[in-house]
Amino acid sequence: MHSLPPLPCYLNGEFTELPNAKVSVMDRGFIFGDGVYEVVPVYGGQLFRFAQHMERLDRSLAELRIGNPMTHAQWAELALKLVASYAHATGASIQSTDQLVYIQVTRGVAMRDHVMPTDITPTVFVMANVMKLPNAAQRRQGVACVTADDFRWEKAHIKSTSLLGAVFARQISFDAGALETVMFRDGFLSEAAASNVWVVKNGKVMGPPKDKLVLEGIRYGLIEDLCRAQGISFELRRISRDEVLDADELLLSSATKEVLAITTLDGRPIGNGQPGPVYARLYAAYQQAKEQTRLAPADLGSADALLP
Ligand SMILES: Cc1ncc(COP(=O)(O)O)c(C=O)c1O
Repeated sequence: MHSLPPLPCYLNGEFTELPNAKVSVMDRGFIFGDGVYEVVPVYGGQLFRFAQHMERLDRSLAELRIGNPMTHAQWAELALKLVASYAHATGASIQSTDQLVYIQVTRGVAMRDHVMPTDITPTVFVMANVMKLPNAAQRRQGVACVTADDFRWEKAHIKSTSLLGAVFARQISFDAGALETVMFRDGFLSEAAASNVWVVKNGKVMGPPKDKLVLEGIRYGLIEDLCRAQGISFELRRISRDEVLDADELLLSSATKEVLAITTLDGRPIGNGQPGPVYARLYAAYQQAKEQTRLAPADLGSADALLP
């Protein structure tokens, strides 16, 4: 059996450990995948781009017509408590061990009926874990990806726990020995199973529009900011499959991949088959943004300090 590590977590008002955290079989998250989630990086004990994560959580909850059970300040306080508990439980240093906080809200517990009940209490689950980043070889050589048609539903902008489409998509690349599955809908780039995809051509960074066919990663805004700061042109527009195959560079982005170069797609090299110069600049700028977060005054007791 796959046993769970005794990591600290929070479930519906109680702090406990993963093996002891139990929800009802009638939770709509279990029955319907009726919930949303967020994955927030934590550098040196500081939540990264937390306000943006909270805005996305609000947008996802609003789509599901679930009221946010907590204020942003309460979420920050809870997240930081889990970060401290993780460090305490594992002996890891908050300063030197980067973490990820996983937040999930489901509609709650009710007898099974597709119609959304309005009188139930959302289920809230939060856990912290160590951040696992790409390894040195993946950074040096870039990664292999494969392509597939985007067979997911047309509400990919919601960060929903209904992830079977993403599970199927990721399995395609796993079975092929690749890291991600780059998807196309009607011949145009959407995103990868658990990452956004960026095309670099003639020094310009391009990504698909922020519409309902992609999840707007927190790195959408970050990469745009980094490009502006670096004087790299940036554009969001529909990108055809041919443009993707003809890219000078292709990049993945997500909380755990940060920015990562795709160097082969379906076994064919992208550009010269090496991580390119735009990747190198964005990666360096990303590391600087992390450092700035790390150096922000640590104030684990007061969530307000982290909010705009
Ligand atoms: C489908 C999908 N697209 C994009 C992303 C990247 O989002 P973020 O940058 O917020 O990690 C994710 C993250 O898991 C994802 O699941």
